[in-house]
Amino acid sequence: MEKIRIQGGHDFRLKGDVRISGSKNAALPALAAALLTGEPVTLRNIPLVKDVFSMLKLMRELGLESALQGTDLTLKVPRILSEEASYNLVKLMRASFLVLGPLLARFGKAIVAQPGGCAIGLRPVDLHIAGLQRLGANITLEHGYIKAEADRLQGADIRFEKKTVGGTEHLVMAATLARGETVLRNCAQEPEISNLCELLVKMGAKIEGIGEETIRVVGVDQLGGADHEIIPDRIETGTFLVAGALTRGDIRLTGTEPAHVPTTIDKLRYSGATIDVDGTDIRVQGSDEIRPQDVTTSPYPGFPTDMQAQFMALMTQAAGMSIITETIFDRRFQHVNELLRLGAVIEVIGDKAVVHGRTPLSGAEVTATDLRASASLILAGLIASGETIVNDVEHIDRGYERIEEKLRGLGARIERIRD
Ligand code: EPZ
Repeated sequence: MEKIRIQGGHDFRLKGDVRISGSKNAALPALAAALLTGEPVTLRNIPLVKDVFSMLKLMRELGLESALQGTDLTLKVPRILSEEASYNLVKLMRASFLVLGPLLARFGKAIVAQPGGCAIGLRPVDLHIAGLQRLGANITLEHGYIKAEADRLQGADIRFEKKTVGGTEHLVMAATLARGETVLRNCAQEPEISNLCELLVKMGAKIEGIGEETIRVVGVDQLGGADHEIIPDRIETGTFLVAGALTRGDIRLTGTEPAHVPTTIDKLRYSGATIDVDGTDIRVQGSDEIRPQDVTTSPYPGFPTDMQAQFMALMTQAAGMSIITETIFDRRFQHVNELLRLGAVIEVIGDKAVVHGRTPLSGAEVTATDLRASASLILAGLIASGETIVNDVEHIDRGYERIEEKLRGLGARIERIRD
């Protein structure tokens, strides 16, 4: 069992340059999009994280041939070997559910395990299913598997009841090979969705309204190959910006897309950090005094729920009280109990966490419950006096590429240890 050990301290400051990897949440749907064509699709700037390899493993069972060179990945699905995505693989990573629409759209049939529970909350896929049914799919749930069939999907006018990143990505992909026009309303507008749409257009899809609340897709008979760049990871960007502010350090993030982190930058500036943007570089200089900030998570371009836990770690060091409201997921405060173990003072009342700062933290053994919670605990460990041990680090590897190496490059005393 792997753990991460951190020697933290109040006098410690991160310094230097760190390169941001490609976006996990842009790479995963882009991988699924390769199922829509028999031609080669090359994705560049792929993050070498566990979730990407889980998706590749699942897709190989479906018929994928792939080659990875550095962070360039070439994918090809000349034919289907199996139309079934097994529970053993889908349960590893929910986003693998996104193979359903592309398989159905191209091959007329797909059987995909219904994703199970998740640490951060109830995460139904009802809006995905309802949307595919509106496109004419015949869908049944049998023995925990979603079985979908359609000779050819038909364009439709679909309004999402609520904004869903995965639902928008799923329906856009399925609609590219449907007969006629599909209009998707109340779409989510995350940059990862736009990155996917740009890939699909390169493959020959007809899509209007990229990045907007209403997306129009006119179906085509078939799609071709493409060569496409995955955007930088805006959540990894936000995580390292918080690391710079929290340690009152001075770091420069390279290979970022500053336009994708608007609210994170705003909130860090309000809290007292100095943030300078220079092309694809962002420099963060922390201040000795951290000001409390109230934060409410919301769909893009609002404050990302995937930054909530990391920002909470920062607010434990703010001079005063901050209220963090989580509106997207109903169980995304699991990191609170672990931060309390490090000496933080936080009360949870419904969807709000009231963080009382500034409370010096002291190192302890803590356990990660999900990807972003583990990032929050590592950040807190950097400024906690003495030694912090983070258990269950497999969560962090799902979405961060070599995080401890990157932090060590900035001067952190952090290492991976085995039991
Ligand atoms: C994506 O998940 C991200 N994952 C999540 O990042 C991120 O937290 C989330 O979007 C919100 O930004 C990937 O891109 C792989 P949603 P997704 O559908 O698509 C409800 C991380 O840390 N909903 O936008 O699953 C849902 O329960 C991960 O990298 C339905 O009710 O999120 C939630 O409350 C964690 N029915 C809300 O909508 C549905 O059919 C938003 O979920 C679909 C969603």
